[in-house]
Amino acid sequence: MAHLFNRNILLGVSGGIAAYKSAELVRELQERGAQVRVIMTRGAQEFITPLTLQALSGHPVHTELLDERAELGMGHIELARWADLLLIAPATADLVARLSTGRADDLLSTVALATAAPVMLAPAMNQQMWKDQATAANISTLAERGVHIVGPAAGLQACGDVGPGRMEAPSAIVDAAGNLFATGELAGKRIVITAGPTREALDPVRYISNNSSGKMGYALAQAAVDAGAITTLVSGPVNLPAPRHTRVMDVHSAEEMLEQCLSLLPECDIFIACAAVADYRPAATEDHKIKKGPEAVTLQLVRTPDIVATVAAQAQKPFTVGFAAETNDVLAYARDKMQRKGLDMIVANDVADQSIGFNSDENAVTVLWPEGQQVLQRANKSTIARQILHLVAQHYR
Ligand code: PMT
Repeated sequence: MAHLFNRNILLGVSGGIAAYKSAELVRELQERGAQVRVIMTRGAQEFITPLTLQALSGHPVHTELLDERAELGMGHIELARWADLLLIAPATADLVARLSTGRADDLLSTVALATAAPVMLAPAMNQQMWKDQATAANISTLAERGVHIVGPAAGLQACGDVGPGRMEAPSAIVDAAGNLFATGELAGKRIVITAGPTREALDPVRYISNNSSGKMGYALAQAAVDAGAITTLVSGPVNLPAPRHTRVMDVHSAEEMLEQCLSLLPECDIFIACAAVADYRPAATEDHKIKKGPEAVTLQLVRTPDIVATVAAQAQKPFTVGFAAETNDVLAYARDKMQRKGLDMIVANDVADQSIGFNSDENAVTVLWPEGQQVLQRANKSTIARQILHLVAQHYR
């Protein structure tokens, strides 16, 4: 199952006898390619030591909300943003109750409130506690808010009772977590995504480029695969592994990117232009390395082709989504760009804040379409990508 590959899974462990199964969960998640970090409640530490989960996950286990040293490393907000999924297993009756009322009185409940990532719970408790009306009401409150519930399973319990309340088997929980990413919303659709920077050559060893890392575009490609799309990345030079099940076409310059995109259009239903394409290139590219000469030189630049506008102007136009990297009047400029370039949707990216946008792991954007817009709160780029693809699936026709 590819859907957990490269995913950041934040595993929350609360204090029940099933906490010992969290060791197996960490292993299964890692075997499917996920990166795992662990939060333990006080109660959980009575059943299994943080050292065990630290050794298995390869990262310090997070236990305290008000811990200066931990906050200096990866604090609760960073953890909340890092997660592609907050998976709480086991989730005790007490934790379920606290989450349903929005309490933030320990690290795990605080992160659950602070994360934009999906939350999945694997409840585990005595069968009578599970059947109690209070627990049932708490679970349905959480489910109505979009929290995913997996299990519990029924059977013989540690206390000797028989009935529903055992934590679901780790492999079933991991399957459910993987299925969460496999939305299938764009099953069979052919999506082309541009990513990364372009390089406009001055001579054989120098070029004009920008700070795009490709992370946003590659996250979009992974989200497109998860949504069931046949996905092609047209990528400028980046240092990222190809997302699974994605065809990657490597290009350097804006001209090459345009040529590659146009060649893919006959098999493209949705086109997403995330690349930071250079707007200008040197008027001439020297065949040999330019020698150092006078104190000052003048470089003549000429416009590059506008790739996304060219795609949107085709007679057989795909559903076309652009990005707008802006530092001021972000929404007004983005809406103007959407109209001028003939786009169906645009993702407004405020790049004045250097902790989001170019070469960062996180982003915060507003997605605009002709009749509306939606803010996507700051989160890691995988989460933002999944939300963008969800909006694309809703508006694509
Ligand atoms: O790669 P990362 O480090 O993860 O950073 C992500 C990002 C900041 C690069 C990404 O989120 C983003 O905002 N991409 C768009 C960058 C950009 O060039 O924006 P723009 O406002 O200059 O261009 C508007 C749109 O036209 C974009 O869709 C762009 O791809 C497209 N364009 C621009 C110029 C050009 N010659 N051809 C184009 O197709």
